[in-house]
Amino acid sequence: MHHSFDFGAILAASNRASWQIEDVLPDEATLDFGRNFLPEALARTAVAGGLSSDEQRLLNQIRGHEYLSMFGMVEEFILPFVLDHARPQLDGDDERVRALLQFAGEEAKHIHLFRLFHRRFTDGFSTSCDVIGPPEAIAAHVLAHDPLSVALLILHVEWMTQSHYLDSVRDDGGLDPLFKSLLRHHWMEEAQHAKLDTLMVEALAEGRDQAAIDIAVDGYLALGGFLDDGLKSQAALNLTALERASGRSLPAKERAALIASQHQALRWTYIGSGMTHPKFAATLAAIAPAAAQRVAAIAPAFC
Ligand SMILES: [Fe+2]
Ligand SMILES: [Fe+2]
Repeated sequence: MHHSFDFGAILAASNRASWQIEDVLPDEATLDFGRNFLPEALARTAVAGGLSSDEQRLLNQIRGHEYLSMFGMVEEFILPFVLDHARPQLDGDDERVRALLQFAGEEAKHIHLFRLFHRRFTDGFSTSCDVIGPPEAIAAHVLAHDPLSVALLILHVEWMTQSHYLDSVRDDGGLDPLFKSLLRHHWMEEAQHAKLDTLMVEALAEGRDQAAIDIAVDGYLALGGFLDDGLKSQAALNLTALERASGRSLPAKERAALIASQHQALRWTYIGSGMTHPKFAATLAAIAPAAAQRVAAIAPAFC
């Protein structure tokens, strides 16, 4: 086994890490629109060609708005998925039941917190920003897939939030402190989710032959393709939001180049950083060694 996760230890860690919404977002707190919201490693806005520094910061904040919306969206399908996974075994292991219900409760809290942050953003940002969706339709599409495919996608998302915080947010002193605190608190609870998801993936793979597991990995890759189409649309929506906020229309050639480079930045943020996470790769390799190599070969396109 490539890990030593167990429900009792995860439950204890979850109790220690737990926080309240008002700890993260006090009533009087406001976002500082003079600062960036996302680290450059994810936003890639400081290298966005043809933009002034003010426009780069605006685009960075629009990426922050997108981040709030994307997490609101993925947690919309994680919550029912975890509840469905817990439901058939409510009379089973007590620590398993409690850990999974706590996982679901934390995701409901995260949806709430991301929504409140979204409101704080729209209160302070001068113009509107559009996002792909609606979340209910995206959740319905995702949840129509094989549960093991969905569990792999969720595992990818949970480890992805770990790498976002540890690799690029934690040591970035230039970010808006409130947004940074959101990412830190999210990271604290997601650390337990990543472990629970590993156990969910293993439970769902148990008893399946290799062919059935490989089909589920294909489902995970199909969901990645679905997500990628959405990210391409989102990159274009972000550029429209930038033009609205800055009051300047971008020349067609510059706009097309920016959409392409920002699409790649979104790919890294939501696909590559999860797909290449060593813990995700290790779990995948443990249940589907050949498929894991296939995923590793595809991953550079999303980095
Ligand atoms: Fe979350
Ligand atoms: Fe989570």
